[in-house]
Amino acid sequence: MSSNSIADVKVSAGSVRHGVVPAAGRGTRFLPATKAVPKEMLPIVDRPAIEVVVEEATRAGLDDLLFITAANKQAIEDHFDAAPDLELALRNGNKTKLLESIERYKQYTRIHSIRQGHPQGLGHAVFQAYHHVGDNPFAVLLPDDLMHAEDPVLQKMIAVREQIGGSVVALLEVTPQQATAYGSAAVTNIPLETNGLGDVEGLQEGDVFRLDKIVEKPPVDEVLSEYASVGRFVLDPKVFKILETLPPGRSGEIQLTDSFQRLIELPADQGGGVTGVVIRGRRFDTGDKLGYLQALVEMGLEHDELGADFRKFLQGLDL
Ligand code: G1P
Repeated sequence: MSSNSIADVKVSAGSVRHGVVPAAGRGTRFLPATKAVPKEMLPIVDRPAIEVVVEEATRAGLDDLLFITAANKQAIEDHFDAAPDLELALRNGNKTKLLESIERYKQYTRIHSIRQGHPQGLGHAVFQAYHHVGDNPFAVLLPDDLMHAEDPVLQKMIAVREQIGGSVVALLEVTPQQATAYGSAAVTNIPLETNGLGDVEGLQEGDVFRLDKIVEKPPVDEVLSEYASVGRFVLDPKVFKILETLPPGRSGEIQLTDSFQRLIELPADQGGGVTGVVIRGRRFDTGDKLGYLQALVEMGLEHDELGADFRKFLQGLDL
């Protein structure tokens, strides 16, 4: 993941223009660090995690992002806003590179933000986007899930939606124990020769599945397969109608996963059907302390300025 300028990225006039970034969670898995700092603002080397996700959305051709935030999360909005005093100080000090780094937000997809109020789960968070997104397909990017730029899974998912319609979720191969922390899916492979999937850049045979069933965080003996849904989704707007009346599910929360089960049961001509695309590249759960450390090490090694010295440091460790 490079911190190079993305000014040269051409925003495509693709079919999916809206993105929703739920960022209202309390970050309890990362306390005490997240007591006063939003988990989305924890740095991946020198950039907050959420900036990496916004860059991914920009590269995927989304031209409008809606953050769903909460009361103590203002730092997120500040990060994507002008900082006149700091800009002036850096300009006066001829600190051009640093100035560029804090002005990079101007190259990203346009950002809006609203508050969730009383959070009632991920499904409830996504439903807050209804009046903003309207009757358009949209992407959801969970900022805890950091995708390595080498595997542009969101682009592939958008292309799959263009070929097949319906909704698309990212799938990760997991152990049964790991599956208990995710949406667990029963799946049927879709060969690439069907539905024009062979034309989608970067897809391999065995990457695309029809979802037959999905359950949120099942106990280990009820896990449906080795595939779990993780934090990238491309959703048909029909999901809003479902979320509007969806009863609470696992943990008493309105679960996005339960809306996927409804979409699975809905005929294709009514916006139904859910397809899964397997993530083949690296993915980090930065809301988890170990996942965050792994992201830091890998991104540190790849960092333009620090990578070589950091590698030397690690090689010198007596492990
Ligand atoms: C959420 C979803 C779950 C999904 C996961 C992906 O869970 O509810 O279905 O598999 O994100 O990271 P959370 O991690 O917010 O508890």
